[in-house]
Amino acid sequence: MIAANNSPLSIQTPKPVDANTNASSLTYQQIKDRYQAAGQGHLLNFYDDLPESEKAELLSQLQSLNVERANRIHQKATTCPSPMLSNQSVLLGPLPEECFESTLEASSEKMHEWQTIGLNQIAQNKVGVILLAGGQGTRLGSTAPKGCYDINLPSSKSLFQIQAERILRLQELASKQEGAKAKVVIPWYVMTSGPTRTATVKYFEEHNYFGLESGNIVFFEQGTLPCMTFDGKIMMESKSQIAVAPDGNGGVYAALRTTGVLANMAERKVEYLHVYCVDNCLVHVADPVFIGYCVQKNADCGAKVVRKKSPDEPVGVVCLRNSAFNVVEYSEIDEEVAHRINPKNGQLSFGAGNIANHFYTVDFLNKVESFEGELEYHIARKKIKTLDMQTGEIITPKQVNGMKLEMFVFDVFPFTQRMAVFEVDRREEFSPLKNAPGSGQDCPETSRRDILQQHVRFIEDAGGKVVVGEEDQQIEGAPTLEISSLVTYSGEGLSEIVAGKSIKTPIVISSLEDLKKAVF
Ligand code: UTP
Repeated sequence: MIAANNSPLSIQTPKPVDANTNASSLTYQQIKDRYQAAGQGHLLNFYDDLPESEKAELLSQLQSLNVERANRIHQKATTCPSPMLSNQSVLLGPLPEECFESTLEASSEKMHEWQTIGLNQIAQNKVGVILLAGGQGTRLGSTAPKGCYDINLPSSKSLFQIQAERILRLQELASKQEGAKAKVVIPWYVMTSGPTRTATVKYFEEHNYFGLESGNIVFFEQGTLPCMTFDGKIMMESKSQIAVAPDGNGGVYAALRTTGVLANMAERKVEYLHVYCVDNCLVHVADPVFIGYCVQKNADCGAKVVRKKSPDEPVGVVCLRNSAFNVVEYSEIDEEVAHRINPKNGQLSFGAGNIANHFYTVDFLNKVESFEGELEYHIARKKIKTLDMQTGEIITPKQVNGMKLEMFVFDVFPFTQRMAVFEVDRREEFSPLKNAPGSGQDCPETSRRDILQQHVRFIEDAGGKVVVGEEDQQIEGAPTLEISSLVTYSGEGLSEIVAGKSIKTPIVISSLEDLKKAVF
């Protein structure tokens, strides 16, 4: 699909067979036989009660679903090894030294070297970003997609806007590199799902794509999988509809291919991708330092990690499992392994906390198809609104009653030999928005606090002083100082203005002019 100059490229998963198709009785019989053979004949229990239009809708959905594949996935997911791995000292191994670097230890010369390599790639239009925005954000409890969420910054900017402005700023920074393309573009590939697509696209339109060129924003939709009971029966949400859910953020790989995004990347000659989650308000979108590091390492996959706060922190860690790269969940690691210390540096041997922030070469993304059949699926046990298959009543369960099957974005790690792991400072790069307001952890208040505190550090690191004004209410102990990403991506360009000067809060800085006026 070619983008008109001024409209965003919008790529959709092919639609299932038209719901209005008049499925013949033969087709009905064929479908019935197929579903009965697959042990899923109950999906037609209420077929005879349905009006004609809904009969067609149901048959169409059943026709387009690969029921045998759904059974296989359920079978595979439910026969995976038990949560606590046995004989862990053999199965799990720490990351090899040669594939790991830490920004907490790296010299400023090294950081500068990586950044320059990354900016040069961006300047050559070889870098794109993939945003994972198909999640339903159930814990946060907002009906709108998470990216639209207002974390109550003084500017009221949403997560989408913050990320868009980082892309804008980076395009500007890269265009100053020697030999940069006349127009530096970082295409933004935004993955949505059935539940988030319409609202996401509308939000971007309403906000005029936050100043980005709409033709460089590509929306694409991830796939779905049926929800299943614990004994492997597909669930229904009504008499004419199967209950389906997005196939997890690891659905991105299939979606990139089936919706034509890989072809779009090839057309644009993009070679490297930064992949990140919508809910991290501190994310360094298209981070040149990370890109430069991965390119220098000649990696085809990269993962940013943060140092685990303690052996008991419940995060997955990037490590080796059966000699292959992997993310091992907190619940899968036994206590002894979680506490193990690397004698060389005194750090946890299994301390590389995964933050779902990745690098890929386009070549690698193209290879995923060749091993897709071997990828793991994971079970998310959920309360799923469902049809009682005996009575035909809709049940809103109070207890977990079924499972959604998901792939995770890191499930491809075992299939690379060229992995680069990059430890970053949690304070600067990771503050996820997961939970409802007031929950005290990974919630809107912590997101807001972490951004504002970072902006105070930007000023202080640039040699300025932040004076907290009496009228500043300092929610969660963070002075009200917000600097637009259009002004600075990660603190650069401020020292010329703020060094040796002071700035008083509360204040919002939207431009360098604002900053010049504010300092004294
Ligand atoms: P989470 O696993 O935290 O899920 O997603 P969520 O939907 O945001 O929140 P809960 O679990 O329902 O409360 C991590 C990232 O993966 C994306 C999310 O949008 C987020 O950026 N994601 C998740 C997808 O893109 N697709 C999915 O199917 C699931």
